[in-house]
Amino acid sequence: MIITIEKAVELIKKGDVVAFPTETVYGLGADAYNLNAVQQTFRVKGRPSDNPLIVHISRMSQLRELASEIPAEVQMLADAFWPGPLTFVLKKQESVPDIVTGGLDTVAVRMPNHPVAKNLIDQTGPLTAPSANPSGRPSPTRTEHVEKDYSSQVPVLDGGHTEIGLESTVLDLTTKSLKILRPGAITAEMIQKVVNKKVVDADSTSTENHKSPGTRYTHYKPDAVVELITESPASVDGSIYYLLHSGSGLSAENVHDYSGDFSALARDLYDHFRTADHLGYPKIQIERFAATEAHPLLSALHNRISKAVTGN
Ligand code: TXA
Ligand code: MG
Repeated sequence: MIITIEKAVELIKKGDVVAFPTETVYGLGADAYNLNAVQQTFRVKGRPSDNPLIVHISRMSQLRELASEIPAEVQMLADAFWPGPLTFVLKKQESVPDIVTGGLDTVAVRMPNHPVAKNLIDQTGPLTAPSANPSGRPSPTRTEHVEKDYSSQVPVLDGGHTEIGLESTVLDLTTKSLKILRPGAITAEMIQKVVNKKVVDADSTSTENHKSPGTRYTHYKPDAVVELITESPASVDGSIYYLLHSGSGLSAENVHDYSGDFSALARDLYDHFRTADHLGYPKIQIERFAATEAHPLLSALHNRISKAVTGN
């Protein structure tokens, strides 16, 4: 059900959940200070209660209401990348409800860069928002994804196709070294340049790093088997859905070659997973990236594709 911004504000103030667009993926928004609304988010999403939510803000003053300690690096990084696809994990203020943070003493905060999100949060105040998919589905990048996953039962603000298509970078600033808990469009290298300090690119598959509870859970894996291939195929197999990037020159409806445009591949990735399953392809083959390839989205793309290959 597509709704207007006025309706969305009214529903959120009443304690309902509303899906809204951000520059990364659609989020399932609720008033961060309304316990029932946040609880409803976990219910609607089918999300375990120990997996915390990101609080979305539209002004710096809201950050100070949420975080009790704001290291100097945060101001520098916010100046450089906010509004944008970077989430900070910081020590929380006592006023942040435990249900938001899954009982942790830290809170994740992000200022999204999308006019609809900004307009909404300006009128409602801070919103918790996990990606607007039921657990076990890929993050939604179009309103149609939210409508389909929730059989039109969740009200949605329309913002068209999200620009980035992969979830934000999650950066932990509560320990001595800055640590990336989830790679996104803002890379370790970009962060390092701003803070002039080493950034640890935590590998979510290592057993040591369980600071981001979300990395513990099984992630979306399409029904189709997802495989990595080292180069584009010599000929097209009609039963395989191909995602390529090296400019193969192959032309068929089941071949999607991005010819080096990794931003477009990232934007479309989750949509392709949904389409391949919808069309009943038993296998998706994705061309592996060469180590020499340089693009800020490669780390995030690699992370999400690896999860789709292994399902965890
Ligand atoms: O781009 C995004 O970040 C999107 C849009 C809607 O903003 N949101 C999103 O939320 O991806 P979600 O809930 O699907 O993923 C949030 C991730 C989870 O892995 C969660 O465990 C982690 O952030 N997280 C949240 N709070 C945390 C905290 N206090 N400490 C460590 N990790 C946290
Ligand atoms: Mg998610």
